[in-house]
This record gives sequence, C-alpha cells and structure tokens, in this order.
Amino acid sequence: KTPDSWLPRDPRLIRLTGVHPFNSEAPLSDLYSEGFLTSPELFYVRNHGHVPEVKDEEIPDWEFTIEGMVEHPIKLTFRGLLEQYEQKTYPITLVCAGNRRKEQNVVKKTKGFSWGAAGVSTALFTGVQLGDLLRKAKPKRGARYVCMEGADKLPNGYYGTSVKLNWALDPNRGMMLAHRMNGEMLRPDHGKPLRAVIPGQIGGRSVKWLKRLIITAEPSDNWYHIYDNRVLPTMISPEESANNPKWWVDERYAIYDLSTNSAIAYPAHEEKLCLADPPPEYRAKGYAYGGGGRRITRVEISLDKGKSWRLANIDYAEDRYREAGLKQLCGGTLDMEEREASFCWCFWNLDLAVSELSTVDDIFVRAMDESMNVQPRDMYWSVLGMMNNPWYRITIAHEG
Ligand code: MTE
Repeated sequence: KTPDSWLPRDPRLIRLTGVHPFNSEAPLSDLYSEGFLTSPELFYVRNHGHVPEVKDEEIPDWEFTIEGMVEHPIKLTFRGLLEQYEQKTYPITLVCAGNRRKEQNVVKKTKGFSWGAAGVSTALFTGVQLGDLLRKAKPKRGARYVCMEGADKLPNGYYGTSVKLNWALDPNRGMMLAHRMNGEMLRPDHGKPLRAVIPGQIGGRSVKWLKRLIITAEPSDNWYHIYDNRVLPTMISPEESANNPKWWVDERYAIYDLSTNSAIAYPAHEEKLCLADPPPEYRAKGYAYGGGGRRITRVEISLDKGKSWRLANIDYAEDRYREAGLKQLCGGTLDMEEREASFCWCFWNLDLAVSELSTVDDIFVRAMDESMNVQPRDMYWSVLGMMNNPWYRITIAHEG
C-alpha cells in the first residue's frame, strides 16, 4: 500500500520509478496512436511525491493566494476563479525535461530515472490566463519573478519553482492556471483541482495542486527549484555536484524553454520489419516539438547515419485550432488568433521505399525550429540528464 493507493491508473502506462512516487509514460507507439490530443489515461505523469487527495465537494472552496510584491494581494477560491475570470481553452503540449533521458543513462548514469521518448503529451487546457490574475494583483516596482508552490509536501518541503514575471504578463507566452484537461476536471495525477500550465517550457515549471503564487525580486529559493531542472556543465560529475552547492545555486544553469526535439514512433526501436511480402512503401512517423513557442520548420530523416537527409511531411494540428476562430470549447473560449506562438507538438511522416529500408539498419530524425535551432548530432550529458535532444535514432531488424 502506498499513499496513492486510492488512485486508479491505466495499466498501459509504464512505471519508471517502481511503486512510489508514480512516474510513468505510455509506450511510444500507443502515445502516437492517440493522435494530437493525449487522453488523460495515457498522459505522462511526473510526481515527486504523493498525490494530494482533494474530494470533489472540497473543490469549490480550494483556496490559493497571490502574495509578495503586489499592491493587492489576492486570496481566491476555485469558485471565485471560475466566476470572476474569463475562461480560455488552448491546446498545449507538456514535456518533462527528462524526456529521452534513457539514452543518456546508457552512455553514463545520470541522477535521473530513465524516460523513453514518451515523456510528452498534449491536451486542451481550460483555465485563466496568469497575466489576467497578476494585473489584478498589480506587481510592485522591482518585482521580477512569479514563484509557485504546490500542495504536495515532500521531503524537502512543498514542490515549487519560478518563472519570470515578464513572461507571465505576456499573453503571447500563454501561461495559465488550468482546471480542465480535454474538457474534464483535471485528474489527480495532473494537479486536480488547479495547476499552472507554462507552455513552451519544461514541464517542471507547470506546478500542480497549486496553492500559492509569490511575486518576488529573486528566483524561487524552493529546494526543487534549485536542485532540480538544471543542466549543469557537462564536466560536473555526480560527486562534484553533491559536494559543491555552488553549481546548484547558479541560476544560469536553470532551464526554461524546451529544446528542439523529435522522435520516431514507427517503426519502433528494434522493430522487426517484415519485408518478405512487402508493400512498396513503409510510412515512418513520429513527433517533433520546439521550445519557447517556436514553430518546427523542418523535420529531416537520414538512412545513412546523417550523411544525407530527406525532408519529411509535417502536420501542424495546432493550426486547425488557430484557424477555428472564436469558439466555445471545453468550458472556455478558444481564441488563438492573436497568438503567434506555437505551443504544441507536430507530427511528421515520410514514405520510405521498402527496397531501400531492407538495406539499412537504422533511421535517424532531426528537427529544426524557426530560429534555426537544430537538434545536435552529439549528446550533451549533464548530471541530472535533462534536455536530451541529439538526433533520434532507432535500429531496425529484418525478417524474411
Ligand atoms: N507540481 C507539483 N506540485 N509536484 C510535482 O512533483 N512535477 C513537475 C510538474 N509539476 C510536479 C509538479 C514536473 S517535473 C513535471 S514534468 C510536470 O509537473 C508533469 O506534469 P504531469 O504529471 O501532469 O504530466
């Protein structure tokens, strides 16, 4: 029995850290097959500790505060948030900074557990724009950060982190406090009843079970802000990082915007392709995402280990929501016309001649974003194993 035993979980999810806390991803092929929106059952889960149990009847009175360097501190209930603020709905992709860490752990063990490439999921999130709340609270001169704190009490205190106040006030950054996912109340694993959703940034900034927003002049001093979600310089070993706190308190090593990334869902890694009585073409498929709202502008596939590349087709499903105009969706207004940024994954595909595929033993993919941030050939190893995004490679086996 664990503190989360009351929670049902989908048996298809792969547990990555034993029984407790619950950290899981779906098999990549299942995740991909879900399509653009991931159902809550298969949405990846990253919990540092137990899930706070909030009963349905307690939700309307769930309280959270906006405090610190503001002219008008706010204490609001969940009910008040729904009644007093405009509700918006946006499709947003969340990605754990540890996505694809398994590849790093194979090269050299990091301090983190082994995510495959399915630590990423997309949902329609409904809630209130963070900027709307902050403008009401009126940050004081000198305020620069929004610290957030959840209700999950962990060995080193409540989970918390911060983002820049300027970002939070910028509608184009799309930060929100969400209470619905794909039209239904957030599931307990995903922050029921209220969470931050910070698009384009690593999932670790999207604090779940949100209780407090604290406006400050300095970044969060929460333990999890300092000792998690950082890319320390590559030469810093686990021992050196454990003995020398100076590496952790340096805010330059904190990570925010996601890095450009992509993966191959079909074929699966080490899949045996049956090419005995083959159709003439095999459709390779997968996903790609950019960071900081930057759009993916190309996805390229190589069958010769990166010597030459061919251009894949890209489906930007997010744009169908953009083009839908003003519309009621999932209990909020969908209105993406004024938002240029791209906050979702896109799916790519490329038909490969089976006659050619049967002669190769691996496939590589890499993506590039609109600022020409391209996935690197080489891995950047760091002690926490985060932001891993070199060219994604799968090997294939042949049968018949
Ligand atoms: N918020 C709280 N309160 N506690 C947590 O453990 N984990 C963070 C973030 N918010 C976490 C949290 C991390 S590291 C990630 S990647 C995302 O939540 C995961 O969100 P999800 O489980 O809904 O996919």
